[in-house]
This record gives sequence, C-alpha cells and structure tokens, in this order.
Amino acid sequence: MQFRTRAIHVGQEHDPATGAVVPPVHVASTFVQPGPGQWGQYDYSRSGNPTRAALETTLASLEGGCRALAFSTGMAAIHAVTMLLKTGDHILAGTDIYGGTYRLFHKIICRAGIEVTLVDTTHLEQLEAAFRPNTRLLWIESPGNPLLSITDIAACAQLAHRHKALLAVDNTLATPVLTRPLELGADIVMHSATKYLGGHSDLLGGVLVVRESSLGEELYFVQNATGAVLGPWESFLCSRAIKTLELRVLAQCHSAMQVARFLHQHPKVKRVYYPGLPEHPGHQLARRQMQGGFGAMVSFEVHGGFDAAGRVVAALRLFRLAVSLGAVESLVEQPAAMSHASYDPQDRLAHGIRDELIRLSVGLEAPEDLIADLEEALQQV
Ligand SMILES: Cc1ncc(COP(=O)(O)O)c(C=O)c1O
Repeated sequence: MQFRTRAIHVGQEHDPATGAVVPPVHVASTFVQPGPGQWGQYDYSRSGNPTRAALETTLASLEGGCRALAFSTGMAAIHAVTMLLKTGDHILAGTDIYGGTYRLFHKIICRAGIEVTLVDTTHLEQLEAAFRPNTRLLWIESPGNPLLSITDIAACAQLAHRHKALLAVDNTLATPVLTRPLELGADIVMHSATKYLGGHSDLLGGVLVVRESSLGEELYFVQNATGAVLGPWESFLCSRAIKTLELRVLAQCHSAMQVARFLHQHPKVKRVYYPGLPEHPGHQLARRQMQGGFGAMVSFEVHGGFDAAGRVVAALRLFRLAVSLGAVESLVEQPAAMSHASYDPQDRLAHGIRDELIRLSVGLEAPEDLIADLEEALQQV
C-alpha cells in the first residue's frame, strides 16, 4: 500500500463494537483484569492505551519500522533515547540541531557523566575523526535546524555501526513523507509530533520508531518506567492529522520553494538557506535523500544585523511570530533570540547561527500571499 493510504488505514480500523469509521478515543486510565495476577491486552494507560497504540501502529508503518512509541513531547522522546546510555558513555551530535536537544545534552545528560561532542555531520571525515571508543550514540538532524544543512544519513549509519554506536535521526523537519531514515540504516527515528505530524499547532507530542524489536523493547521499558507517554486526546488528534500529512507536506514544500526563490533574488536578503536551491551545499545530496520536496523550512539572513532582522520579523503579518514549526499556519522566528537562545552565545556563532538569521516555517496559505507579506516586511531593512 502507498504511504497516503497507510496514513489513513493502518492502525485506524473501524470500531468492531459499533461500526464507527473512526476508532473511539479511550480515555480510561485503568482496565479490568480477568483475575488477580492475570493480564489482559491493556492494564494501565501508562503501560499501554488503545488510542495511543493505534497512533503508534500508523507511525511504525509510515517510518518503515517494527515499533513506534508515542511520548508526551519531542524532548521526552529524545530523553528516553539518552536513557539507553550510562556513565562514561559518549554522544556525538550534529552542530545544526534543535536548541532544546543541545540544552538536554549539555545541561542535563552531562550530569550523569555522559560526555557530548558536537561535530559538523555534513563533513564525514570530521565526523569519523570525532568517534571515540566510548561513543554509543550518533544524533543527527537532516535537514538541520536552523541552517537546513543536509547530512548523509546512510553514510552516518555505516560510520556509527562501524564504531558500534547507534544512529538516531531527528526526522521532524523532513517527515517520513520526504525521508525515511530507518530505510537508510538508522536505528532510531525521532519526531517532535508537535510539528508536521500534529500539523495544526494544537498538540504537543514526541515519537520514537525503531527498526529492531530488541531496541524497541529497551525503549519501551524506559518509557514505561519513566512515564512520559502521550495522552489519548493528543494521540487521537495526531492520528487525525496524519491522514493529511502527505498532502500538507507536499503542498508546503511547493510553497517553500517559491518563497526561497523569491528571497534568493531579493536585494535586502544576504543569504538564503534552503536545500531546494541549487546553490545550497547539500542540494545534490538532498535530491537523492529526500523524495517529493526539500522541506517547508526556509532560513535567511538580512543585511543590517540583529536589529534589522528583528524589525522584519515584527513587521510580518501572515507569518506569526512564534517558535515551533510544521503547522498549517506560517510561522517566523529569530533563532538567536528565540529557538536557539539556549545555546551559549559563542557556541551559537561558531555553529553559524548569526544574529541576523530569520527562520520561516511555510504553512498552507497561498504562496503569493506569503510572498507579498515578506515583500512588505523586507522594506524594514
Ligand atoms: C527538530 C526538533 N526536534 C525536537 C524538538 C522538541 O520537541 P517538543 O517541543 O515537542 O518537545 C523540536 C521542537 O521545536 C524540534 O524542532
């Protein structure tokens, strides 16, 4: 079955009790057991819930994995992966990653005596040299955030496995519509379901999907023991949104390409970061690794530094000034002041996140309206 069909049908079978086309939302926290010490399919909603399980079944199918786990947030999902590690282990992570992941790795995980090194994963020689005998996890994002760098996932999987480490890919920006990391050799795929999977700025959620059942068991153990599961209402909302995931993502990619081309020729714009533009250093790799589009995030720098970027961002009307991304409504943010403010300033600059950088999440509005909004706001430069 094709992706779009699976997004609608897998895990979303009709309710056998009533014939309802949409499965019911199971809000129960606990389930009657057949007898003392006897366990049915479900016993307690932290350990398993039918509405969450339906979503997990759909997600495992869409990512090409054997098992998915739904968490209360994306950060809870990332945290669960780090809980596979122990004191003395080492994490290698890309430089172009979500600021909250950077904060978790540098300010929380380090307390457990786990070392973290950041490396530019677009340079495979640098990446290879950064592995240590105690490296257990390679963490990457492609496209990266906020510079939309493209990392070769298949090459990273080979490197990680040669060094006996797991490869985890934050696939939030690409979505399984455009890239399926497990098919390229990754061990774990992670999502902030808050973004494209949820797609409507109305839920928080996180997802892990794995290729091998033993790793799925380990992560399930962590999830059940620590408890950050996705609630039934959010699970239902996410399942509902996933039915239109492919349509939304492809349309948003199409608009993002038009926005990127507009910005690229604009005299007030210094530089555009969009993997769909031939000038982007990762363009050829993105053509191979991404199918159907290059994502719907576009970053750019304006002339005039932090203040000019701030004025542009504030002048936009359709692009709402807010962190987050991936929803039907377009959003804008200034990473240095918002999503990546949790970086140490010198680290942020060293990783190429300049003060004048602006990040757009292109939504489902008509692209000509979005371009008109940008044209007007750029008069502020
Ligand atoms: C790429 C990426 N990964 C992870 C996260 C964290 O997800 P959440 O906010 O759902 O905890 C975010 C949130 O912005 C993100 O953009």
